[in-house]
Amino acid sequence: MTDSPAADSAPAPVTPAKDRVLIFDTTLRDGEQSPGASMTHDEKLRIALLLDEMGVDIIEAGFPIASEGDFEAVRAVAKAVKNASVCGLSRASRRDIDRNWEAVSHAKRPRIHTFISTSPLHMKFKLQMEPEQVLEKIAESVAYARSLCDDVQWSPEDGTRTEHDFLVEAVRIAIEAGATTINIPDTVGYTAPGESAAIIRMLRERTPGIENVVISTHCHNDLGMAVANALAAVEAGARQIECTINGLGERAGNAALEEVVMAMRVRGDIMPFETRVDTTRIMQASRLVSAVTGFPVQFNKAIVGKNAFAHESGIHQDGMLKHAGTYEIMRPEDVGLTESNLVMGKHSGRHAFREKLKALGYDLGDNAFEDAFVRFKALADRKKEVFDDDLRALVDDATTSVANDRIQVKFLRVVCGTEAPQSADLILEIDGVERRHTSSGDGPVDAAFNAVKALVPHTAALKLYQVHAVTDGTDAQATVSVRLEEGGKIVTGQAADTDTIVASTRAYVNALNKLLVRREKSAPSESITAAE
Ligand code: KIV
Ligand code: ZN
Repeated sequence: MTDSPAADSAPAPVTPAKDRVLIFDTTLRDGEQSPGASMTHDEKLRIALLLDEMGVDIIEAGFPIASEGDFEAVRAVAKAVKNASVCGLSRASRRDIDRNWEAVSHAKRPRIHTFISTSPLHMKFKLQMEPEQVLEKIAESVAYARSLCDDVQWSPEDGTRTEHDFLVEAVRIAIEAGATTINIPDTVGYTAPGESAAIIRMLRERTPGIENVVISTHCHNDLGMAVANALAAVEAGARQIECTINGLGERAGNAALEEVVMAMRVRGDIMPFETRVDTTRIMQASRLVSAVTGFPVQFNKAIVGKNAFAHESGIHQDGMLKHAGTYEIMRPEDVGLTESNLVMGKHSGRHAFREKLKALGYDLGDNAFEDAFVRFKALADRKKEVFDDDLRALVDDATTSVANDRIQVKFLRVVCGTEAPQSADLILEIDGVERRHTSSGDGPVDAAFNAVKALVPHTAALKLYQVHAVTDGTDAQATVSVRLEEGGKIVTGQAADTDTIVASTRAYVNALNKLLVRREKSAPSESITAAE
């Protein structure tokens, strides 16, 4: 803790080398603000730990004042992360900043991020404040944050639509008050690469003290230019990029971490910048974020899409066989995409299984490992060929459903086909007691969901039901995501199984278990079963 915001006594927080670009990941904050992308406490922790292992420099873990859950998640991330700086977001008020500091101060390297709008439109209509009042708020909030924490980031919201003279003045005041990073957000995804670069250049030319801080860029993707804008800002002198895994974020999302990192790596000849990100963990991070949020990655998404390294046309395949460089500008293994090799069968032992998981980037604790191994054996019994993607789905499934979940699927048999009614006979174990119900429905999934609802009555609305085949072939596992909403709370459940109806039912039950955890935080434990 420092007593004053004197710039000369401030230890440099994370100062990049000349050509180093800091990667600031905001998947857990801006990403989670994406409608429907809410994550549980444990899921946030898993993502944060992976980001840390990957070499992300700063993790924005949430908005601590937003809710008790947000606060607890930011605090837990701050405690758990080993290398990265951990940052929380706050508005320009002492209450927000205090709450933020309470959460992030547990980190090895805490950072407070505070922001206020500076564009004429935002100041007039959103804040209903005069420009002078906004400048006062900047001085006050940044100085206060800096009195608590040595590493303070300040952002002018809607920065790219802010008048230049005012932006220079606002940034000057923030620096004078002790900000160590100045982040320029393109909040509404309005800017274009030339303009993005021009703003950074303009600030560097005109703002006193700007040479002593890290300039950051935060770009939204409303016009599909977030990555281009972020890279243009870096070329103009920004040395921190705010981004998210899979480009998750408000509306059309943020600049995608995997794209900015790989662009600088592959085109180092014209963008001579480096990051500390271990790119071989990119696929793992992409899959985890997609599984947790239930947001699928579009097939043709750059770097992490299913088709990003697929060569379908005959001409391309021929070229690839002669020299991979003909149509491939980066190697699949550079982003952690291993060949979907046949890996193991039912005779594979624990040792081989553990080694394989390690190669795929999973380091499970003893209980999770045992659970995954039992599931692997069961899968190998049912499925002729077990591929890497099968194992990933299986491990993700094993780590999303928890042994002490209040509701567990014990038995399911469905009747389906051309003749109605389709029905589902289901046994759930609820708080240790087995209960059975048979329901009919419009198809087997509907019937199974009706049976779940009869056994666990609730008012949550089904917001998403989504099925993906993990691999090719009719014996492929299905991964299912089910999103539920109850009283403004959103949860997403997942499960994987070679039987799509079983996976669907377990995903639904997984979502209900998450909902129960959320409910229990706000109300004492209560019975969840139907009255008998
Ligand atoms: O888009 C935005 O303006 C933001 C800021 C709070 C950094 O997310
Ligand atoms: Zn944003």
